[in-house]
Amino acid sequence: KKGFDKSKLQFTAIKPVDAAVDAFTVPEGFGWNPIIRWGDPLFADSPAFDITMQTAAAQARQFGYNNDYTDILPIPDSKDRRAVLFTNHEYTNENIMLPVGFDAAEARAIGRAAHGLAVVELERKNKNKPWSYVQGAALNRRFLTDTVYELTGPAAGTNLVKTIDDPAGRWIKGTLGNCSGGTTPWGTILSGEENFNGYFATPGTSDSDKRYGLSSKATARQWELDEPRFDTRNSGYANESNRFGWIVEVDPFDPTSTPRKHSAMGRFKHEGANVILAPDGRVVAYMGDDERFDYLYKFVSKGKYQAGDSKAARKNNMSLLSEGDLYVARFTGDSPTAEIDGTGKLPADGAFDGSGEWLPLVIGGASAVPGMSVAEVLVYTRLAADKVGPTKMDRCEDVQPSLLTGKIYVACTNNSDRGKAGKEGATEVNPRTLNRDGHIVEITEAPGQTGTKFNWTLLLVAGDPAKNSSTYFSGFPAEKVSPISCPDNVAFDSVGNLWISTDGAPSTIGYNDGLFKVTLEGPERGKVEQFLAVPRDAETCGPIVHDEERTVFVAVQHPGEEGTFDAPHSYFPDYVPAGTTPAAGAVRAPRPAIVQVFRK
Ligand code: FEO
Ligand code: CA
Ligand code: CA
Ligand code: CA
Repeated sequence: KKGFDKSKLQFTAIKPVDAAVDAFTVPEGFGWNPIIRWGDPLFADSPAFDITMQTAAAQARQFGYNNDYTDILPIPDSKDRRAVLFTNHEYTNENIMLPVGFDAAEARAIGRAAHGLAVVELERKNKNKPWSYVQGAALNRRFLTDTVYELTGPAAGTNLVKTIDDPAGRWIKGTLGNCSGGTTPWGTILSGEENFNGYFATPGTSDSDKRYGLSSKATARQWELDEPRFDTRNSGYANESNRFGWIVEVDPFDPTSTPRKHSAMGRFKHEGANVILAPDGRVVAYMGDDERFDYLYKFVSKGKYQAGDSKAARKNNMSLLSEGDLYVARFTGDSPTAEIDGTGKLPADGAFDGSGEWLPLVIGGASAVPGMSVAEVLVYTRLAADKVGPTKMDRCEDVQPSLLTGKIYVACTNNSDRGKAGKEGATEVNPRTLNRDGHIVEITEAPGQTGTKFNWTLLLVAGDPAKNSSTYFSGFPAEKVSPISCPDNVAFDSVGNLWISTDGAPSTIGYNDGLFKVTLEGPERGKVEQFLAVPRDAETCGPIVHDEERTVFVAVQHPGEEGTFDAPHSYFPDYVPAGTTPAAGAVRAPRPAIVQVFRK
C-alpha cells in the first residue's frame, strides 16, 4: 500500500474565483487546453462545426453537448500513445446553442442529436505530451436517441417495459439525462440515467408518475411533437418512461457492441454507479438517487469476476450486472443532538458518526418488499424503497469506493428544503437544515463489502468557513481550507486522495465551481485544496486524475448556461474576442468541452 502524501501531482491551491469570471483557472506552473469540444467532427465524413448553419445530421456526426461523466482508458499495446475517451452528453441548452429564430423542428432534432454518449480515440506523441483526439479513428462512436440498448435482468421482457415498438420489452431506443458514472475492472463504462422524467409528458396521475416527477405538462424540449413515445398518453407507449432511469453499460473498446441497461440495479434518478470487487470476487456497486430526500443504494452481483481477457472471462464479466441483490441504506446516528449547531462544534460524543444497515429490496432473486414482484421492485424502485424505511438523504450525487481502502464516499450535494415546513429536519448523517452547501459521508463496510452492516462518519460539511460557521473538515483547521460548496462528481488519485468536483457554488458561496483535492489519511485529513476553477455558469464534471503523469482532466459542462445566444455569459474555450474572425474550428460562443490540465 502506498503512502497518502506521495502524489507526484503537487500544486499550490488556487484562490477561489469570483462567480461571473469567465476564465478557466489552474495552479501556478500548470497549463490547459481543450481536447474535444461540442461540435468537433468525430468521423471522416463529419462536417466541420458551423454554429450559424448547424443541422441535426451534422450534430449526429459531431461531439455532443454538456459532457458530464468522463473517463480515459489506455488502449492495450499502444505504448501509452493511444487511449479511448468516453463521455456522456447529459442535456442541451438550446438558449445558447442556436441563434434566435432557428427553425423550431430542426432545433429539436439538433437537441436530440446532441444528447447521448460518445467514444473517441485519443493519441499523443509520448507519455509527457498532451492528448489530442483522432477524427475518423476506428473506435469513435456516437450513441444517439435511436441507438438500441438491450435491457437485461429480471425486468426485461416483463409487461412493465413493453411498448408498441418493442413488444418483447428488451430493446430500448436511446439514453437520456446521463449524469455521472464509473468504470469497471473489466474495462466497460457505467453511466446513470438521471433526470429522464423531464423528457416525457405523461398522465402524471399514478403513484409512480408522481414519485418519479413525471407530469402531464408539455416538456421543455417538446420532443413529443416529433416522436409519439415521448408522450406516454399515446396509444402503445404507456411504458416508455419505464425504459429510462437505468444504469447503462457500454464497451468502449468494441464499436459494434450493443450497449445495455441493467434492470437488476434498479430504476431511479441514477446519478451514476461505481463498482469495487469484494474479496470473494463478487462485484459491489454503489449508487445515489439524486433528489432531495431520496436514497442511497448498493448492488451485489450474484456472479464473480474472472480476471484476464479470455473470451470466457469477458462473457462472464459482461453478465455480472444483470443479476444480484439490491439494497437501500438506513443510517443511524449515535449522538444526543443531530444538528450541526452553527458554532462549528462537534456533537457531544465527538463526531458526526454512527452505524447503518443495508435493507434488502431484492435478495437471492426474490422480492424482499411485501406486495411487490421483483420486476415491480426494479421498475418502481423508489416506491419499493419507501416501504422499507431507508434514510432520506441530501441528494446523493456520485458515490464511489476507494479502491485502496474499500471505504465509500457519498457526495450529498445540498438540500435547501431540509427542515422547511412539512419536511424532515436535521438527522445526524444530514446534519444541517437548509443545507445549501452539502457534505461528504464516509462509509466503512463492517464486516465487509458484501455485508449488510456498516459504520459511517462525516468527512466534511461543506461551505465557506469565512462566512459560515456550520462547516466541518474532520478537525482540520477551517481557516486553512479552500471554500467548497455543492460536491458532485468524485474521483481518487493513485495514492488515495479524494478529488471532488462541484456544481452550484456560484449561487451559494459566490465562487465559480471547481475541482478540489481532499486529503483522507494522516494528520491533514480533511484538508481541502482547490486545483482549478471552471468558467462562468459552468459545472465541473469528469474528473480524471492521472497524478503519476501530473495531468488532470475535467469535463466543463454548461458554460454560460444563464446567458443567451446574443448576450453570452461565456466564450469558453475558444475565447474569440468580439470583432475578430474566429480561427478555423473556433466559435464565439460557449462550448462544453473536455479539458486537460498539465504541468508545464
Ligand atoms: Fe446531473 Fe445529479 O447531477
Ligand atoms: Ca450535470
Ligand atoms: Ca455520533
Ligand atoms: Ca452530477
